[in-house]
Amino acid sequence: MTLEVVRTVADLRARVKAWRLEDLSVGLVPTMGGLHEGHLSLVRLALEKTDRAVVTIFVNPKQFGAGEDFDVYPRDLETDAQLLGGLGAHLLFAPSVAEVYAEDHAACVSVPGVGDILEGACRPGFFAGVATVVAKLLLQTLPDIAFFGEKDYQQLLVIRRMVKDLNIPVDIDSGPTLRCADGLALSSRNAYLSAEESAIAPVLHEVLAGIAENPSPGTAQGVDRLLKAGFSSVDYLEVRDAETLEPWTGAPRPARVLAAAWLGETRLIDNVAVKKAVSRQRSAS
Ligand code: PAF
Repeated sequence: MTLEVVRTVADLRARVKAWRLEDLSVGLVPTMGGLHEGHLSLVRLALEKTDRAVVTIFVNPKQFGAGEDFDVYPRDLETDAQLLGGLGAHLLFAPSVAEVYAEDHAACVSVPGVGDILEGACRPGFFAGVATVVAKLLLQTLPDIAFFGEKDYQQLLVIRRMVKDLNIPVDIDSGPTLRCADGLALSSRNAYLSAEESAIAPVLHEVLAGIAENPSPGTAQGVDRLLKAGFSSVDYLEVRDAETLEPWTGAPRPARVLAAAWLGETRLIDNVAVKKAVSRQRSAS
């Protein structure tokens, strides 16, 4: 079966409706394109878990702030479509901005709390932009399952909360972060890094993994190490409760180390699960 490409919500819905009449289940993988193995692993998951895999490619202007990289964000629909066709994805929905946002578009989904901290605090309006477009994509497609990467861990929590609070009838599934051999998390934005920056970038994962091995609420040493390695600044480096993203206090609950740091003009984010924090506390009790 070859990849079908549709540009309008009406065509997307017609295709999904036809599948529903055949009793086929539908998986959705929302992306902004610039596809890499991380995205492709989510598509494979969708193909494994559902009968039909829909991928969306839409660089969503509402989740970019003034001065951010909306204009230069990687866009290569032909290459992305080839990759998806090679995997056996069934449908690519690649709408224009006008198709997604009518001129009089006004509605906005915000997820206060988990959406206000960390990324939300550094990039005001970011999660409202993400939640709004993901709500639209979910309601346009109405898949059985939608798949998101753990690389954007806070985004995953924001989307889960939105789907729960708004009773959107879709299951949210996730796939693990994929990494280069040196530990750098795969990201479309890695394309911005110079050779010199690419050599420094893996230190972010090294620092996160080190803290995850031996967590403590204070992360000043990690910040220091990033700056010494050549990162220009660190937006945050935090150990947080894995479910609420509230500061982790050492309590015997799942925790996550999350960071955002600048390498020249490029902002990298990453996160790693803390496993020992829980088991150590449990074995001590
Ligand atoms: O993670 C992304 O690529 C985007 O934030 C998403 C979920 C596709 C919404 O635009």
